[in-house]
Amino acid sequence: MAAADTSYGSLRFRVATPDDATQIQALVQSAYRGRQGWTTEADMLADNRIDVEGVVGKMATPDTVVLFVADDTGALVACCELAKRSADLAYLGMFAVDPRRQAGGIGREVLAHVEAYCRRTWGARRLEIGVTWPRPELFEWYVRRGFRGTGEKRPFPYDELASGEALRDDLYFDIMEKDLGAA
Ligand SMILES: CC(C)(COP(=O)(O)OP(=O)(O)OC[C@H]1O[C@@H](n2cnc3c(N)ncnc32)[C@H](O)[C@@H]1OP(=O)(O)O)[C@@H](O)C(=O)NCCC(=O)NCCS
Repeated sequence: MAAADTSYGSLRFRVATPDDATQIQALVQSAYRGRQGWTTEADMLADNRIDVEGVVGKMATPDTVVLFVADDTGALVACCELAKRSADLAYLGMFAVDPRRQAGGIGREVLAHVEAYCRRTWGARRLEIGVTWPRPELFEWYVRRGFRGTGEKRPFPYDELASGEALRDDLYFDIMEKDLGAA
């Protein structure tokens, strides 16, 4: 799929453009750093998660797309970054649902679309994510979605924080992976 719109359930998906970057940054900020949703990093990190230039930079990165997920009124409700990592591996990052709309099934729907997108677009057989430790509630959410912890830990990028600071110095990423089956 290229930039064409796709519907999945009640949601509409399209590849985001730089004009969407300000809205997407605000959504990511509120989901990761706000306190309205059921899972947040607000107790661990007091930064902007990403700035608008960072969002645009992802859009310009080869083999990478940012998805804009809207409801049936066209309003932004979720977003994510997808990247092709190798011949059979795709990566999911910057995955956020509007905190006012969380815990209603949007995350599940977006993930199902993401898996289909990665299989169809890149022939991916596996989908990888990095979950900031310690976020056991989020790790378990991904387990219920069919992911497993690989046991791999990656360093937290303390030197890349956007306009702010970390509130603890022992963070890292737990790498999780889902088998997407045959393409
Ligand atoms: C993680 C996220 C994308 C999920 O989206 P969502 O729309 O809330 O997800 P869903 O509505 O599909 O699922 C909600 C789940 O949370 C569970 N949940 C709700 N409140 C909870 C709580 N207080 N503690 C633990 N789980 C809770 C529900 O039981 C449901 O789980 P189930 O689907 O297995 O039954 C969204 O919460 C988010 O944007 N979080 C902040 C950003 C983030 O951490 N992104 C992921 C980084 S790897």
